[in-house]
Parts: sequence; structure tokens; C-alpha cells
Amino acid sequence: MNAYPIDHVAVAVSSLSDAVPMFERLSGASGSPVEALPAQGVNVVFVGSVELLEPRGPDTTVARFLDRRGPGLHHIAYRVPDIREALRQLADEGYRLIDSEPRPGAGGHQVAFLHPASTGGVLIELVER
Ligand code: CO
Repeated sequence: MNAYPIDHVAVAVSSLSDAVPMFERLSGASGSPVEALPAQGVNVVFVGSVELLEPRGPDTTVARFLDRRGPGLHHIAYRVPDIREALRQLADEGYRLIDSEPRPGAGGHQVAFLHPASTGGVLIELVER
């Protein structure tokens, strides 16, 4: 059984420019430059270990999340040494995968998501750095 450290926590926000200052105030860290991820429909800023996700348009998963639930915790990311191996192990253990294959995420890292239906209602991201 492999244990994975937490890589980051992600928060969905309506506006990065509105949200970043509070997280900078709390952590003392400066926000990273905005990274656009058109394929995921988000703009991303990291403030320390908090990833802020802003939708790039109304027809994106994060925009739908904001419509449904409002701003707030979006996912928890765990760092894995080998994402394909982690996906294989977790699927064997009965976790439901959103991504059976890794895809490029923030920072160019490989990421994959586990379905909240199998993780107590929390969206879980796996990240291989
Ligand atoms: Co993330």
C-alpha cells in the first residue's frame, strides 16, 4: 500500500484578482503568475499550496461547479511517484476513476482525477511532478 503526501488544495473562485489577495495575506506567499489551461477551461494561480481555479468561460466544469455550489473547496491533490501505477492500484482497490489515463495539468504535470462518488464526496486529483 502506497501513501501519498498532499500536493495542494484547490479552491474554485469567480475571480482570481478578487481571491488572490486574501490567500496571499493568509499564507504570506505571493501568487504565481496566472497560468491559462484552455483544455481544462480554467485559469490557475498558486498561492503557496493553494491552487485557485477561475473559469475561462460559462461552459466549463469550474463555471458549472460555481453555479451549483458557489465558490469553495474544489479538490484535494495527492502527489504520486508514478501516476499510471497509482491509477492502476486505486482502480484495483475499487476507486472510480474520472481519468483512466493521465492528462496534462497545471505546471505541465501529469494529473488524473478520482470520482467523488468513491471518495466520500471529495474530488481527488493525483499529480505526478
Ligand atoms: Co489541482
